[in-house]
Amino acid sequence: MVHSWQATKYDEMFLPHLAWGDEIIAQLPLTGAETVLDAGAGTGRDALKLASRLPTGRVLALESSETMLARLREKVAASGLPVDVVDANLLEPLPVSTPVDAAMSVATFHWIHDHKALFANLAEVMKKGAPLLADCGGNGNIDRVKSAFHAVTGRDPDSGRPWNFAEPQETADHLASAGLEPLEVRLVRDTIFFYSRAEHEEFLATIVLGPQLEGYPAEERPEIVRRISRAMGDWVVDYVRLKIRAKKA
Ligand SMILES: C[S@@+](CC[C@H](N)C(=O)[O-])C[C@H]1O[C@@H](n2cnc3c(N)ncnc32)[C@H](O)[C@@H]1O
Repeated sequence: MVHSWQATKYDEMFLPHLAWGDEIIAQLPLTGAETVLDAGAGTGRDALKLASRLPTGRVLALESSETMLARLREKVAASGLPVDVVDANLLEPLPVSTPVDAAMSVATFHWIHDHKALFANLAEVMKKGAPLLADCGGNGNIDRVKSAFHAVTGRDPDSGRPWNFAEPQETADHLASAGLEPLEVRLVRDTIFFYSRAEHEEFLATIVLGPQLEGYPAEERPEIVRRISRAMGDWVVDYVRLKIRAKKA
């Protein structure tokens, strides 16, 4: 299933993704001259931050969604920062001609079902010794949201395989088979809390349950989301993140 992203809304909302991205950028060993690949750059929030730390380097911002690419291009043009926007599918050999010094990714790998192919494609365009730092949804991610969705709609939230919430061990195996030495691969619970039902509902509708709601007419979606938020009881989203630190062998 290809999920259609609401780029403007995504870009305007407060997202925990910002903290996940900051954590990764802070861990990248940068001198300021590197070329760094951001895999699944979205609207470019991390790519722009990263580029501001690379006075003589560049960011290659790889993205495949038309709506995200449009917003990303606008933001890069307005910023004047050294970011090359690259229209690329991470499941195919990447259109990157010179190997990069580092690669990062935030909240993207769980949208990709074939992690073997993903890691092989990334490894192919990384220099020997280059770090890969990534965050994505891991095993157990949003289980409470999924249960509430099932209770309210009677539908299987995993129908159509919207996500790939992987385990650390299988991820480490896929990294290793792609020639990326796994240094640390672990799950971290990161539940986020909301201050109002309205915020919770907007977040569920825009960020979490996009693929499931696409199966319903637009006019029915707000009521379904309202019932899911109520069924959860708390205004939370129970994120479980898979944190990946590896390097090209
Ligand atoms: C949740 S967004 C995260 C965006 C950004 N990294 C952030 O943290 O704000 C996931 C992004 O991954 C992109 N994506 C998913 N599958 C992809 C693929 N096969 N190739 C390239 N991008 C992909 C989506 O289009 C989307 O922009």
